[in-house]
Amino acid sequence: MFATQDEEARRGMRRPAAISLPKGTLGVLTPGMGAVSTTFMAGVELVRKGLALPVGSVTQLATIRLGKRTEGRSPLIRELVPLEKLDSLVFGGWDIFPDTAYEAARKAGVLEPNHLEEVKGLLGGIWPMKAAFDQAYVKKLNGPHVKKAKTKFDLAEEIKDDIRQFKKETGAQRLVMVWCGSTEVFLTPDEVHADPARFENAMKTNHPSIAPSMLYAWAAITSGVPFANGAPNLTVDIPALQQLAREHHVPICGKDFKTGQTLLKTILAPGFKARMLGLNGWFSTNILGNRDGEVLDDPESFKTKEESKLGVLEYVLQPQLYPQLYGKLCHKVRINYYPPRGDNKEGWDNIDIFGWLGYPMQIKVDFLCRDSILAAPIVLDLVLFLDLAQRAGLRGIQEWLSFYFKSPMCAPELYPEHDLFIQLMKLKNTLRWMMGEDLITHLGAEYYD
Ligand SMILES: NC(=O)c1ccc[n+]([C@@H]2O[C@H](COP(=O)([O-])OP(=O)(O)OC[C@H]3O[C@@H](n4cnc5c(N)ncnc54)[C@H](O)[C@@H]3O)[C@@H](O)[C@H]2O)c1
Repeated sequence: MFATQDEEARRGMRRPAAISLPKGTLGVLTPGMGAVSTTFMAGVELVRKGLALPVGSVTQLATIRLGKRTEGRSPLIRELVPLEKLDSLVFGGWDIFPDTAYEAARKAGVLEPNHLEEVKGLLGGIWPMKAAFDQAYVKKLNGPHVKKAKTKFDLAEEIKDDIRQFKKETGAQRLVMVWCGSTEVFLTPDEVHADPARFENAMKTNHPSIAPSMLYAWAAITSGVPFANGAPNLTVDIPALQQLAREHHVPICGKDFKTGQTLLKTILAPGFKARMLGLNGWFSTNILGNRDGEVLDDPESFKTKEESKLGVLEYVLQPQLYPQLYGKLCHKVRINYYPPRGDNKEGWDNIDIFGWLGYPMQIKVDFLCRDSILAAPIVLDLVLFLDLAQRAGLRGIQEWLSFYFKSPMCAPELYPEHDLFIQLMKLKNTLRWMMGEDLITHLGAEYYD
């Protein structure tokens, strides 16, 4: 038996009583208007014009089974839950370079000129707002289009002004912010992150533990704007901002879009584990030549990315439960900046597995992927699902969106769920739960009674 709504309420699950319908326009704000952000904006416009398909987007293409298998009810997700339509999205952002979204997309070199020309009208009119930036946090970048203020608090207040101004100019009724900026240097939680008061004080005293990405997140949350963190930065992974998110009824999620190599890892590793095959080693190396790759060439930014990429196997394989199979796993990740490749990354994996009686085998994966092509539909889905979550009254960490992240955020007493298939089940069950549909356990005993 599934819990009734009363039982759920007692356990604090708070199923939404009603979800308000999307009205007017939804503004999407991206700090960082580089490869991912502009590929997302261009893609939405191409789809709206009927010139391309939104491949990779769960909100646009996926169906969801409802009820028993015999009922034959499998609507599109967007027919089950009231998602905002693509036609109602408007875009804005910040960057340290003054290029329009069109110029930035052209320089990023992800999309072909024929696609870019089709969206020039929209992208050419999107000028970035001045960034809150500090080179101490992204060593490899320096740009002229930045805000100047005495304190980090003043910068964050300026971002709030930008948000208000954007809303006024576009007439957007609701907003979502997705961090598409660069990977910052590695930071660990500090006592100034412990609560909102200490956080605010630290902004006023320019404390080094407050990174620029946190200023955008603080500005978004205190403006009532949902926030997703697409980079592996610490950003909203701190108690102060999580508390503020609950207080301001703002859903948040992160971190680090799960795209190329890590996506494959969370597809393959659960399969090996399901069949009780052992793993001795997993060596992953990447070459990429975009600006993201250049930023990751700095050891401090790489450390942030490495932490995010390394955690995955540990959580999927659970070596503490299976020491004979995974206790000695050697897991290494390398990223090399190699300009000739541009955004078309190559990710090699050498996987040393072992089977029956310990006999060794090897698997080689060579993924010639396109980073931003894989990331863009994730941005779209996060925008639409975070907006839905807010209209459904959900707030704080949205663990059901783990599906989209390399390092999913979760409550402090939990471990993150990395298995892509469990994540998808969780996402779909959350949508069923929101709409008062039965959850699907895959037990299926009723068909054989
Ligand atoms: N598949 C993917 O592409 C993928 C996957 C996971 C995570 N990510 C992360 O997403 C982010 C964006 O990736 P990208 O390929 O678009 O990188 P990019 O370098 O093309 O774009 C990032 C942009 O952010 C800007 N920026 C940096 N700091 C800023 C600040 N404080 N305020 C405003 N703008 C700022 C930069 O000038 C740059 O234009 C990176 O952090 C990357 O690690 C990307």
